[in-house]
Amino acid sequence: MGVLSQMNVKKTLLLAACLASAGLVVAEPSTNVAWTVETYRMVRHGDPEIGAKLEGVETEDVNACTDCHGKGGAEPDRDKHPTLAGQNAAYVFKQLRDYKDGKRENRRMEEAVERLSDEQLTSLAAWYAMQPLPKVETDPDDKVSPETLELVFRGDKKRLIQPCASCHGENGQGAKIDVPSIAGQNVKYFVETMKDYAKDKRTNDVYSRMRIIAKELTRDEVNELAVYYARLPEQPRSSNLLQALFD
Ligand code: HEC
Ligand code: HEC
Repeated sequence: MGVLSQMNVKKTLLLAACLASAGLVVAEPSTNVAWTVETYRMVRHGDPEIGAKLEGVETEDVNACTDCHGKGGAEPDRDKHPTLAGQNAAYVFKQLRDYKDGKRENRRMEEAVERLSDEQLTSLAAWYAMQPLPKVETDPDDKVSPETLELVFRGDKKRLIQPCASCHGENGQGAKIDVPSIAGQNVKYFVETMKDYAKDKRTNDVYSRMRIIAKELTRDEVNELAVYYARLPEQPRSSNLLQALFD
Protein backbone atom coordinates (compact mmCIF):
# COMPACT_ATOMS: atom_id res chain seq x y z
CA MET A 1 0.00 0.00 0.00
CA GLY A 2 1.46 3.39 -0.97
CA VAL A 3 2.04 6.13 1.57
CA LEU A 4 -0.70 8.17 -0.01
CA SER A 5 -3.40 5.54 0.27
CA GLN A 6 -2.26 4.71 3.80
CA MET A 7 -2.82 8.33 4.66
CA ASN A 8 -6.24 8.18 3.09
CA VAL A 9 -7.12 5.14 5.15
CA LYS A 10 -5.98 6.96 8.28
CA LYS A 11 -7.98 10.02 7.33
CA THR A 12 -11.06 7.93 6.66
CA LEU A 13 -10.74 6.17 10.01
CA LEU A 14 -10.28 9.49 11.76
CA LEU A 15 -13.32 10.92 10.03
CA ALA A 16 -15.36 7.84 10.92
CA ALA A 17 -14.28 8.14 14.56
CA CYS A 18 -15.25 11.84 14.62
CA LEU A 19 -18.62 11.15 13.07
CA ALA A 20 -19.24 8.29 15.48
CA SER A 21 -18.42 10.42 18.52
CA ALA A 22 -20.65 13.18 17.20
CA GLY A 23 -23.44 10.62 16.68
CA LEU A 24 -23.46 11.34 12.98
CA VAL A 25 -22.77 7.90 11.63
CA VAL A 26 -24.85 7.40 8.53
CA ALA A 27 -28.06 5.78 9.70
CA GLU A 28 -29.19 2.46 8.30
CA PRO A 29 -31.44 2.93 5.30
CA SER A 30 -35.09 3.07 6.28
CA THR A 31 -36.03 0.56 3.56
CA ASN A 32 -34.36 -1.88 1.16
CA VAL A 33 -36.92 -1.15 -1.55
CA ALA A 34 -35.46 1.00 -4.34
CA TRP A 35 -37.94 2.50 -6.79
CA THR A 36 -36.18 1.42 -9.94
CA VAL A 37 -37.92 0.74 -13.24
CA GLU A 38 -37.72 -2.99 -12.41
CA THR A 39 -39.45 -2.52 -9.06
CA TYR A 40 -42.28 -0.55 -10.72
CA ARG A 41 -42.65 -3.14 -13.39
CA MET A 42 -42.82 -5.88 -10.81
CA VAL A 43 -45.51 -4.06 -8.80
CA ARG A 44 -47.48 -3.33 -11.94
CA HIS A 45 -47.46 -6.98 -12.88
CA GLY A 46 -48.81 -8.18 -9.54
CA ASP A 47 -51.66 -10.60 -10.24
CA PRO A 48 -54.79 -9.78 -8.20
CA GLU A 49 -56.22 -13.26 -8.79
CA ILE A 50 -53.23 -14.83 -7.11
CA GLY A 51 -53.52 -12.20 -4.34
CA ALA A 52 -57.18 -13.08 -3.79
CA LYS A 53 -56.25 -16.72 -3.17
CA LEU A 54 -53.19 -15.96 -1.09
CA GLU A 55 -54.97 -13.77 1.44
CA GLY A 56 -57.01 -16.76 2.62
CA VAL A 57 -54.11 -19.21 2.99
CA GLU A 58 -53.23 -20.24 6.51
CA THR A 59 -50.57 -22.59 7.76
CA GLU A 60 -50.11 -24.42 11.05
CA ASP A 61 -48.42 -21.47 12.69
CA VAL A 62 -49.52 -18.45 10.64
CA ASN A 63 -53.02 -17.01 10.39
CA ALA A 64 -54.53 -16.01 7.07
CA CYS A 65 -54.39 -12.32 6.19
CA THR A 66 -58.19 -12.31 6.24
CA ASP A 67 -58.23 -13.40 9.91
CA CYS A 68 -56.89 -10.00 10.91
CA HIS A 69 -57.56 -7.69 7.95
CA GLY A 70 -60.88 -9.10 6.71
CA LYS A 71 -61.72 -10.14 3.18
CA GLY A 72 -60.10 -7.81 0.66
CA GLY A 73 -58.52 -5.99 3.60
CA ALA A 74 -61.81 -4.22 4.18
CA GLU A 75 -62.93 -5.43 7.57
CA PRO A 76 -60.14 -5.55 10.07
CA ASP A 77 -61.15 -7.66 13.08
CA ARG A 78 -59.81 -5.13 15.55
CA ASP A 79 -59.61 -1.45 15.07
CA LYS A 80 -55.87 -1.24 15.53
CA HIS A 81 -55.48 -3.41 12.44
CA PRO A 82 -55.13 -1.31 9.31
CA THR A 83 -57.59 -1.27 6.46
CA LEU A 84 -55.86 -2.38 3.27
CA ALA A 85 -58.76 -2.11 0.81
CA GLY A 86 -58.10 0.53 -1.84
CA GLN A 87 -54.51 1.06 -0.76
CA ASN A 88 -51.80 2.13 -3.21
CA ALA A 89 -50.15 -1.08 -4.49
CA ALA A 90 -46.61 0.28 -4.49
CA TYR A 91 -47.05 1.38 -0.88
CA VAL A 92 -48.42 -2.02 0.18
CA PHE A 93 -45.57 -3.85 -1.54
CA LYS A 94 -43.04 -1.59 0.20
CA GLN A 95 -44.62 -2.17 3.63
CA LEU A 96 -44.69 -5.95 3.15
CA ARG A 97 -41.03 -5.98 2.10
CA ASP A 98 -40.17 -3.70 5.02
CA TYR A 99 -41.75 -6.19 7.46
CA LYS A 100 -39.93 -9.05 5.74
CA ASP A 101 -36.61 -7.19 5.87
CA GLY A 102 -37.10 -6.14 9.50
CA LYS A 103 -37.33 -2.46 8.51
CA ARG A 104 -40.82 -2.11 9.99
CA GLU A 105 -41.26 -4.04 13.19
CA ASN A 106 -44.32 -6.10 13.99
CA ARG A 107 -43.98 -9.73 15.02
CA ARG A 108 -47.32 -10.89 13.57
CA MET A 109 -46.66 -9.20 10.24
CA GLU A 110 -43.09 -10.45 10.05
CA GLU A 111 -44.40 -14.00 10.53
CA ALA A 112 -47.14 -13.43 7.96
CA VAL A 113 -44.78 -12.42 5.13
CA GLU A 114 -41.64 -14.35 6.01
CA ARG A 115 -42.28 -17.10 3.47
CA LEU A 116 -43.75 -15.01 0.68
CA SER A 117 -41.81 -14.14 -2.48
CA ASP A 118 -41.74 -10.66 -4.05
CA GLU A 119 -44.10 -11.95 -6.70
CA GLN A 120 -46.61 -13.05 -4.06
CA LEU A 121 -46.29 -9.74 -2.24
CA THR A 122 -47.02 -7.76 -5.42
CA SER A 123 -50.03 -10.00 -6.10
CA LEU A 124 -51.45 -9.28 -2.64
CA ALA A 125 -50.78 -5.56 -3.22
CA ALA A 126 -52.60 -5.64 -6.59
CA TRP A 127 -55.56 -7.41 -4.97
CA TYR A 128 -55.96 -4.88 -2.16
CA ALA A 129 -55.52 -1.92 -4.55
CA MET A 130 -58.56 -3.13 -6.53
CA GLN A 131 -60.94 -3.10 -3.56
CA PRO A 132 -63.23 -0.15 -3.01
CA LEU A 133 -62.45 1.98 0.01
CA PRO A 134 -64.49 0.78 2.98
CA LYS A 135 -66.85 2.98 4.95
CA VAL A 136 -65.48 3.69 8.37
CA GLU A 137 -67.60 4.42 11.39
CA THR A 138 -66.58 7.37 13.49
CA ASP A 139 -68.14 8.83 16.59
CA PRO A 140 -70.56 11.53 15.39
CA ASP A 141 -69.62 13.60 18.46
CA ASP A 142 -66.00 13.89 17.28
CA LYS A 143 -65.43 17.35 15.87
CA VAL A 144 -62.73 18.39 13.44
CA SER A 145 -61.62 21.97 14.09
CA PRO A 146 -60.80 24.56 11.40
CA GLU A 147 -57.20 24.61 12.71
CA THR A 148 -56.88 20.93 11.84
CA LEU A 149 -58.23 21.55 8.36
CA GLU A 150 -55.53 24.21 8.04
CA LEU A 151 -52.96 21.50 8.68
CA VAL A 152 -54.43 19.37 5.91
CA PHE A 153 -54.48 22.06 3.24
CA ARG A 154 -52.03 24.72 4.37
CA GLY A 155 -49.73 23.05 6.89
CA ASP A 156 -48.11 25.21 9.54
CA LYS A 157 -45.17 27.38 8.53
CA LYS A 158 -44.16 28.09 12.13
CA ARG A 159 -43.58 24.40 12.81
CA LEU A 160 -42.40 23.71 9.24
CA ILE A 161 -45.27 21.26 8.70
CA GLN A 162 -46.10 20.72 5.05
CA PRO A 163 -49.80 20.32 4.24
CA CYS A 164 -50.84 16.67 4.39
CA ALA A 165 -52.67 17.15 1.09
CA SER A 166 -49.44 18.16 -0.68
CA CYS A 167 -48.29 14.55 -0.44
CA HIS A 168 -51.39 12.46 0.31
CA GLY A 169 -53.56 14.27 -2.25
CA GLU A 170 -56.61 16.52 -1.97
CA ASN A 171 -58.80 13.55 -1.07
CA GLY A 172 -56.25 11.62 0.97
CA GLN A 173 -56.08 9.17 -1.91
CA GLY A 174 -52.29 8.78 -1.91
CA ALA A 175 -49.88 9.62 -4.68
CA LYS A 176 -47.23 8.35 -7.00
CA ILE A 177 -44.69 5.86 -5.83
CA ASP A 178 -45.13 5.08 -2.17
CA VAL A 179 -47.44 7.70 -0.64
CA PRO A 180 -50.34 5.81 0.96
CA SER A 181 -54.01 6.51 0.78
CA ILE A 182 -55.11 7.62 4.24
CA ALA A 183 -58.79 8.22 3.41
CA GLY A 184 -60.96 5.58 5.03
CA GLN A 185 -58.23 4.39 7.38
CA ASN A 186 -59.22 3.15 10.83
CA VAL A 187 -59.08 5.91 13.40
CA LYS A 188 -57.30 3.83 16.05
CA TYR A 189 -54.69 2.45 13.64
CA PHE A 190 -54.08 5.95 12.23
CA VAL A 191 -53.51 7.38 15.71
CA GLU A 192 -51.32 4.43 16.72
CA THR A 193 -49.06 4.58 13.69
CA MET A 194 -48.64 8.36 14.03
CA LYS A 195 -47.53 7.77 17.64
CA ASP A 196 -45.09 5.15 16.40
CA TYR A 197 -43.59 7.62 13.90
CA ALA A 198 -43.34 10.29 16.61
CA LYS A 199 -41.59 7.90 19.03
CA ASP A 200 -39.28 6.45 16.33
CA LYS A 201 -40.96 3.06 16.73
CA ARG A 202 -41.84 3.13 13.04
CA THR A 203 -38.81 4.24 11.06
CA ASN A 204 -39.39 2.90 7.55
CA ASP A 205 -40.49 6.27 6.08
CA VAL A 206 -37.84 7.32 3.58
CA TYR A 207 -36.24 10.73 4.43
CA SER A 208 -38.15 10.64 7.77
CA ARG A 209 -40.99 12.36 5.96
CA MET A 210 -43.59 11.23 8.48
CA ARG A 211 -41.40 11.09 11.59
CA ILE A 212 -40.55 14.79 11.26
CA ILE A 213 -44.21 15.75 10.95
CA ALA A 214 -45.57 13.37 13.59
CA LYS A 215 -43.15 14.72 16.20
CA GLU A 216 -44.59 18.23 15.71
CA LEU A 217 -48.27 17.34 16.06
CA THR A 218 -50.19 17.41 19.35
CA ARG A 219 -52.30 14.48 20.49
CA ASP A 220 -55.52 16.35 19.77
CA GLU A 221 -54.35 17.24 16.27
CA VAL A 222 -53.54 13.61 15.51
CA ASN A 223 -56.94 12.45 16.82
CA GLU A 224 -58.77 15.02 14.71
CA LEU A 225 -56.72 14.28 11.60
CA ALA A 226 -57.60 10.60 12.01
CA VAL A 227 -61.30 11.40 12.23
CA TYR A 228 -61.13 13.80 9.29
CA TYR A 229 -59.48 11.23 7.03
CA ALA A 230 -61.72 8.37 8.18
CA ARG A 231 -64.77 10.42 7.20
CA LEU A 232 -63.61 11.53 3.74
CA PRO A 233 -66.23 10.68 1.15
CA GLU A 234 -65.84 7.60 -1.01
CA GLN A 235 -63.00 7.87 -3.44
CA PRO A 236 -62.83 6.69 -7.04
CA ARG A 237 -62.09 2.98 -7.20
CA SER A 238 -58.45 2.57 -6.70
CA SER A 239 -57.99 0.30 -9.68
CA ASN A 240 -58.23 3.65 -11.47
CA LEU A 241 -55.85 5.04 -8.91
CA LEU A 242 -53.49 2.15 -9.54
CA GLN A 243 -53.61 2.98 -13.20
CA ALA A 244 -53.06 6.68 -12.55
CA LEU A 245 -50.06 5.92 -10.38
CA PHE A 246 -48.23 4.36 -13.27
CA ASP A 247 -49.32 6.63 -16.11
C1 HEC B 1 -52.32 -11.80 13.40
C2 HEC B 1 -52.91 -10.68 12.68
C3 HEC B 1 -52.38 -10.34 11.30
C4 HEC B 1 -52.21 -11.20 10.23
C5 HEC B 1 -52.42 -12.69 10.16
C6 HEC B 1 -51.78 -10.35 9.12
N1 HEC B 1 -51.70 -9.05 9.52
FE1 HEC B 1 -51.13 -7.46 8.39
N2 HEC B 1 -51.13 -6.26 10.03
C7 HEC B 1 -51.53 -6.63 11.29
C8 HEC B 1 -51.27 -5.54 12.22
C9 HEC B 1 -51.54 -5.52 13.71
C10 HEC B 1 -50.68 -4.49 11.45
C11 HEC B 1 -50.16 -3.14 11.95
C12 HEC B 1 -48.77 -3.38 12.47
C13 HEC B 1 -47.93 -2.16 12.64
O1 HEC B 1 -48.38 -1.24 13.32
O2 HEC B 1 -46.84 -2.13 12.03
C14 HEC B 1 -50.62 -4.99 10.08
C15 HEC B 1 -50.13 -4.25 9.01
C16 HEC B 1 -50.21 -4.64 7.69
C17 HEC B 1 -49.86 -3.81 6.55
C18 HEC B 1 -49.41 -2.35 6.61
C19 HEC B 1 -50.61 -1.46 6.37
C20 HEC B 1 -50.35 0.01 6.32
O3 HEC B 1 -51.31 0.76 6.12
O4 HEC B 1 -49.20 0.43 6.49
C21 HEC B 1 -50.08 -4.56 5.42
C22 HEC B 1 -49.88 -4.11 3.99
C23 HEC B 1 -50.53 -5.88 5.86
N3 HEC B 1 -50.60 -5.88 7.24
C24 HEC B 1 -50.83 -6.94 5.01
C25 HEC B 1 -51.02 -8.25 5.45
C26 HEC B 1 -51.02 -9.41 4.58
C27 HEC B 1 -50.86 -9.36 3.07
C28 HEC B 1 -51.17 -10.51 5.37
C29 HEC B 1 -51.17 -11.97 4.97
C30 HEC B 1 -50.01 -12.44 4.20
C31 HEC B 1 -51.30 -10.02 6.74
N4 HEC B 1 -51.20 -8.66 6.74
C32 HEC B 1 -51.50 -10.83 7.86
C33 HEC B 1 -52.08 -7.85 11.64
C34 HEC B 1 -52.04 -9.00 10.85
C1 HEC C 1 -43.64 15.08 2.39
C2 HEC C 1 -44.78 14.21 2.07
C3 HEC C 1 -45.76 13.92 3.19
C4 HEC C 1 -46.48 14.83 3.94
C5 HEC C 1 -46.43 16.35 3.90
C6 HEC C 1 -47.34 14.03 4.80
N1 HEC C 1 -47.14 12.69 4.58
FE1 HEC C 1 -48.02 11.16 5.58
N2 HEC C 1 -46.87 9.81 4.58
C7 HEC C 1 -45.98 10.13 3.56
C8 HEC C 1 -45.32 8.92 3.12
C9 HEC C 1 -44.27 8.82 2.02
C10 HEC C 1 -45.83 7.86 3.92
C11 HEC C 1 -45.42 6.38 3.87
C12 HEC C 1 -44.08 6.23 4.56
C13 HEC C 1 -43.67 4.80 4.80
O1 HEC C 1 -43.23 4.14 3.86
O2 HEC C 1 -43.81 4.36 5.95
C14 HEC C 1 -46.81 8.47 4.81
C15 HEC C 1 -47.56 7.75 5.75
C16 HEC C 1 -48.57 8.29 6.51
C17 HEC C 1 -49.42 7.53 7.40
C18 HEC C 1 -49.38 6.04 7.62
C19 HEC C 1 -50.35 5.34 6.69
C20 HEC C 1 -50.48 3.86 6.94
O3 HEC C 1 -51.33 3.24 6.27
O4 HEC C 1 -49.78 3.31 7.78
C21 HEC C 1 -50.30 8.42 7.95
C22 HEC C 1 -51.41 8.10 8.93
C23 HEC C 1 -49.99 9.74 7.43
N3 HEC C 1 -48.92 9.62 6.56
C24 HEC C 1 -50.65 10.90 7.78
C25 HEC C 1 -50.23 12.18 7.39
C26 HEC C 1 -50.82 13.41 7.90
C27 HEC C 1 -51.99 13.47 8.86
C28 HEC C 1 -50.11 14.45 7.36
C29 HEC C 1 -50.27 15.94 7.59
C30 HEC C 1 -50.20 16.39 8.99
C31 HEC C 1 -49.10 13.86 6.48
N4 HEC C 1 -49.21 12.48 6.54
C32 HEC C 1 -48.21 14.58 5.73
C33 HEC C 1 -45.74 11.39 3.05
C34 HEC C 1 -46.20 12.57 3.59
